[in-house]
Amino acid sequence: GITIYSGSAYRSYSYQLALYNRYVSVDGKIKAETYSARAGYSEHQTGLATDIMNANLGYISSSDKEYDWLINNSYKYGFVLRYPKGKEDITGYIYEEWHFRYLGEKLATELYNLDITYDEYVARKEQKMN
Ligand code: DAL
Ligand code: ZN
Repeated sequence: GITIYSGSAYRSYSYQLALYNRYVSVDGKIKAETYSARAGYSEHQTGLATDIMNANLGYISSSDKEYDWLINNSYKYGFVLRYPKGKEDITGYIYEEWHFRYLGEKLATELYNLDITYDEYVARKEQKMN
């Protein structure tokens, strides 16, 4: 009973550049960089991120039933919510309810169980290596 769509997935460097430049011209660099990556720095350029849309083709939001389903099930398919609420200082981005990142089932499940972001996971890994 859940209908979701992948809205924006892979982006080329030039597409991300155009997107970023448009946001900067609208909101200025400081604000734009809270929700848009510079060209060369977006997960969308890896092809591993997708912005999820609901059945009405709007960006998914926490008030959608599809959102609850995603939060509780996407890890089983290898996806995690990449920029969660309350983790803005850690991820560097505002809460993006729609941006999911593929990490594979094993790692996504680990992050889900630990309730940590990918940034925190990478930081912990680096700490262990040093
Ligand atoms: N909106 C995310 C941060 C991006 O531009 O990749
Ligand atoms: Zn995104």
